[in-house]
Amino acid sequence: MQGSSPGAAPGPQPDLGAVYLEEHRELVLEEIRRIIRAGSPGDDRAYRLMLDYPLRRAKGLRPALCIAVCRALGGEREEVLPSAAVVEMYHNAFLIHDDIEDGSLTRRGGPALHRTHGVPAAVNCGDGLLALTLGPLLANTDRLGLGRALRILDVYARAVIESFEGQAQELSWIDEGTWQLTDADYESMVRRKTCSYSFVAPGLVGAAVAGAEPRLEALLVSFLESLGLAFQIQDDLLNLEEGRADYGKELAGDLWEGKRTLMLLHALRSAREADREEALRILRKPRPAAGSPEAGLADLLRGMVEERIIDEAGRAAMMRYLDRRAASSGEKTEDDVRFLWRLIDDHGGIEHARGVAGRHAASAEVRWRELAEVLADSVHKRFIGWLKDYVVQRTW
Ligand code: IPE
Ligand code: MG
Ligand code: MG
Repeated sequence: MQGSSPGAAPGPQPDLGAVYLEEHRELVLEEIRRIIRAGSPGDDRAYRLMLDYPLRRAKGLRPALCIAVCRALGGEREEVLPSAAVVEMYHNAFLIHDDIEDGSLTRRGGPALHRTHGVPAAVNCGDGLLALTLGPLLANTDRLGLGRALRILDVYARAVIESFEGQAQELSWIDEGTWQLTDADYESMVRRKTCSYSFVAPGLVGAAVAGAEPRLEALLVSFLESLGLAFQIQDDLLNLEEGRADYGKELAGDLWEGKRTLMLLHALRSAREADREEALRILRKPRPAAGSPEAGLADLLRGMVEERIIDEAGRAAMMRYLDRRAASSGEKTEDDVRFLWRLIDDHGGIEHARGVAGRHAASAEVRWRELAEVLADSVHKRFIGWLKDYVVQRTW
């Protein structure tokens, strides 16, 4: 299986971005705490749950981008902080719901919220986080004036709908078993699923807070879309990299979930007919349900290896037994996932996806040069420039 890291070239000033992210993550977390406290002065348990995902190890990329764009355009930190917190709260709400939609087991290094608190409480927690984003957006009318507040709301409203559409597209491919897809189909889905709310919206919100000239928007959008595409492809690639303890999501989770990634689409296009038929047969099978005894046992066995109660050979023997049971129940097995993974490796799926991500990073570079001309030098500007390398070089 693949073990090497993508984008081998070292990036410029990697510390600059890490420091910027770290500093702003703390500020944004404090703002999120404040917004949640304003909703619940009594420290209600349901409100406290809203901090579960935000407090896990996370990069805080979206709010940092929002703040950086605002400040690079001359806006003030205090003006943008509530809107940056909204961006992050929306992201966390979206992750809670996404983990349920995808049947994911792990998020940010721990079990997904619906696995620790059940689906009903997790759905409600996501709803609550979304509801709490409306207050700060409304308060922007006092803070920034009606014009800028409405501009921010307009960006936010479009991004929310686009991410809904991107999710709907991906879910319908899974539901309808659609695999006849081109790389362009994948990109069209990712533009809505990832680029819109994770890159374009944070940037445009930052620009709106700063009261930037609207003619700057088109340039920002095309830069941020290229960043978002490269970011998502890198995310998909990391899902197939072994030995990334810091990655925080389930290794090969995308194969278990039947995600349409560039790697898998490329392998399906390139495979011999018999292999393609076998892959499609596997991909029609659901993964064992999150709450099933099998899924629970697989988790337990992984934990027992980590705690050295059993060794890897013992885990593998028990997994083979579970696999045979899953096979007879029509669910995906570990062998199935290994087959898909090998198909991707055999047909150069990883290299193909790296190539596409690299082309989007190169487009971002071209756009960046134009954008850099209109921004005065500052740490905020340097952070935005750092992102175009980071999106393809990141390891988590
Ligand atoms: C969900 O997309 C929308 C986000 C970009 C969060 P995915 O389902 O592909 O993302 P992960 O793999 O769960 O983070
Ligand atoms: Mg997901
Ligand atoms: Mg998803």
